[in-house]
Amino acid sequence: AVAFLVALVGGYLIGSVPFGLLLTRAAGLGDIRAIGSGSIGATNVLRTGKKGLAAATLALDALKGIAAVLLARWVVGEQDLVAGTAAVLGHTMPVWLGFRGGKGVATALGVALAAMWPVALGCGAVWLAVAVVTRISSAASLSAIAAGPVLALLFTDAEHALLALLIGVLVAWRHESNIRRLLDGTEPKIGQKG
Ligand code: G3P
Repeated sequence: AVAFLVALVGGYLIGSVPFGLLLTRAAGLGDIRAIGSGSIGATNVLRTGKKGLAAATLALDALKGIAAVLLARWVVGEQDLVAGTAAVLGHTMPVWLGFRGGKGVATALGVALAAMWPVALGCGAVWLAVAVVTRISSAASLSAIAAGPVLALLFTDAEHALLALLIGVLVAWRHESNIRRLLDGTEPKIGQKG
């Protein structure tokens, strides 16, 4: 029970560091939450026109997922999947920002890289393929997140598939407004302000 709690709280705290907000603020771009989708993720940071900042946000948000899984493994010795799920939760619902954070895609990718890298590569390929065809980040993310549990079942075990499913539901739920815009045909293309 102690290991579970440490992994849960530790993972959440790691995930809740809002890199997109901190980087854009440090760059003097104001509050990223007032731009585009209002998300603190890399897709929205790209709407400022700063590609380097968006790439850094993507990398650091993914690193949170990797760190949560590896730290749980090294420090706690177990519960790495709990820590990973908690990191995605912390990114999407950070207590510091009134529980309004990002959509969890980059952090989920980091968790997958650390916990089941073949699945991460597969999801990354799905993301890229859909992004190339549609030029819409959320369509690519939702496709990748849907592929996660299927790929996890194929390449890993039931426990990892359940993790992929849990994270997938969380990420899909955070894309509620994106799904509405996709259905309306009003979701902006990558880089567009919308
Ligand atoms: O990875 C996040 C992406 O799927 C959606 O981001 O800012 O368009 O809501 P955004």
